Amino acid sequence: MIEPAVPPSVPAAPAPRGRRHTVAAAGAALLLAASCGLTSGCATAGQASPPRGEAAVRATAAPTAADDEKAARTPSNTLMRSAGSPMTVIAHRGASSAAPENTLISDEVARRGGARWIENDVQPSRDGVPYVLHDTTVDRTTDGTGPIRALTAAQLDALDAGSWFAPAYTGARVPTLAAQLEDLRVRGGNLLLEIKGRHSREEVARIVRLVRDHGMTDRVFVQSFDVDALRHTRALAPELPLGLLRSRLDPDPVAVAEELGLSAYNPAAGALATDPDVVKELHAAGIALMVWTVDSPARWKELDALGADAVITNRPAEMTGWNAARP
Ligand code: G3P
Ligand code: CA
Repeated sequence: MIEPAVPPSVPAAPAPRGRRHTVAAAGAALLLAASCGLTSGCATAGQASPPRGEAAVRATAAPTAADDEKAARTPSNTLMRSAGSPMTVIAHRGASSAAPENTLISDEVARRGGARWIENDVQPSRDGVPYVLHDTTVDRTTDGTGPIRALTAAQLDALDAGSWFAPAYTGARVPTLAAQLEDLRVRGGNLLLEIKGRHSREEVARIVRLVRDHGMTDRVFVQSFDVDALRHTRALAPELPLGLLRSRLDPDPVAVAEELGLSAYNPAAGALATDPDVVKELHAAGIALMVWTVDSPARWKELDALGADAVITNRPAEMTGWNAARP
């Protein structure tokens, strides 16, 4: 069963406090989300504002061969940032500080706060349907109990994934990956899809099939702690960019990235602190750096100065506002 994209009782996205530019950024994101529903793709965070003057005239003219070549080199799911642009905001399990994690409501709150990338966690049900859930059990984030891999799709569909967070969110569901992809496709946004835990080749194949069936290959970036899951993805869907999650830095991150065919290397913020120079080394090899999970402006500032390309955060609206105020 595909749940409704946003139940009628969805609370309004929390208004970011204290910064006018934050509100403006959120408003712009709403417009973007609306327009994304009518187009095949969405702008990524950090992309330029709508063009003005001469640039706007050029933008409406037929694309040149150079434009085509540039577009071919820069799909919407690339996360390497260009000089001067802000770090991409990636909403960790949606706007998980403001709404129940890994639900479509959490995604909507993140979108209204200006995030154009959502991070999730994907695991299969007992009958093999990919669902969006972080823990190995449903105990913490739903009104049910038991390992996700022991529950059928019908059992998972019956769970309440919102009331644990706040009564206002009662009725939120554990989304299937299919429902989340469809919601993003229609409402706008890109997905940092984490294959959570060990997955067989067949389980990865089912994920890949869903991404393709929903026409989202240019708006999905796959990441995992599990090297085999990345190898399966690369073999099955070479068009999908890959990121390796790490709690500690490898002795030679560039070598690992090259061996696995990564587009990004994704360390924990604490791990990055042990060797900040790794950012330059990765960039020299054409590999982006996405850091998790960082919620404080002081750390965003440090990561910005280091050259990180993207930050996975529980506070996407706040980081969007922080980005907007960046000199
Ligand atoms: O996206 C990075 C982060 O989500 C990895 O840790 O445990 O929150 O999935 P975890
Ligand atoms: Ca995750």
